[in-house]
Amino acid sequence: MKKYFALLLAGMMALSLAACGGSSAPASSEPAAETEAAEPAAEAEGTEAEAPAADAAEAPAADAEIKVVEAGKLHMATNAAFPPYEMISDNGGFEGIDVEIATAIAQKLGLELVVDDMEFGSVITSVQGGKSDIAMAGLTVTEERKQNVDFTESYATGVQVIIVPEGSDIKTVDDLANDKMIGVQDGTTGYIYCSDTVENGGYGEDHVTSYPNGAMAIEALKGGKVDAVVIDNEPAKAFVAANEGLKILDTEYIVENYAIGISKENPALRDAVDAALKELIADGTVKTIVDKYINAGE
Ligand code: ARG
Repeated sequence: MKKYFALLLAGMMALSLAACGGSSAPASSEPAAETEAAEPAAEAEGTEAEAPAADAAEAPAADAEIKVVEAGKLHMATNAAFPPYEMISDNGGFEGIDVEIATAIAQKLGLELVVDDMEFGSVITSVQGGKSDIAMAGLTVTEERKQNVDFTESYATGVQVIIVPEGSDIKTVDDLANDKMIGVQDGTTGYIYCSDTVENGGYGEDHVTSYPNGAMAIEALKGGKVDAVVIDNEPAKAFVAANEGLKILDTEYIVENYAIGISKENPALRDAVDAALKELIADGTVKTIVDKYINAGE
């Protein structure tokens, strides 16, 4: 397992280096309101036959090429059971690091954020199928997912950790191999690693139980249905803080990059979101948001 984690880590680092070389559009968040839409500039790109000219005259030029699923909105596919990245607030709305970053991105694009809450396993298919514009869910960049969506720059790192009941005989990652049952959230990288074959460094499907969300995996752990839960470190901290008698093992880790997934059919949106995100990283907005949720209380 150690070797597997190390290999994965090396792979992830190579990926993130490769990602640095990716292209992105120059940042241009200012709506070019003064632009006369009737100017010949519009003729350059493909013709949107149905688009009435009157609408085009009103729309800021920057948004004119960006297709979104609903006019004026940026739909974010997420699974709001992943604190502190996305969760349901006391008043029933959505909050968290991803929600705030996405709100800031939407603002830069002149759009209003709409959160589409769904199972984690659906966030990528939702953008692929044109139901949501962005997948933002503490979503780890993986080679396989890159086949299905394009990713922006990474805005955070996640670390897969192991939660066990206090007093558990599981002391290190290697102890997971001793015929233990591991709880994970459906469709996550924690599931992917753990359910892989023993030869590949996993524990095999038979030793893994998937739950619709992290909280349910934690309930299973408390109820003795599983011996450990493998999940990203920040939600892990939130779950352990909210539940007595659990602890996070200080053991082997795998570091992952979180990024925003966008349909491969929509490079203009990808470039615009990527540029907006990069501006928000550069001007410290992302750090301020992250600190508010993660570092502030420590
Ligand atoms: N980082 C992990 C992954 O991408 C887990 C993400 C789960 N996110 C959520 N919002 N439930 O597979």
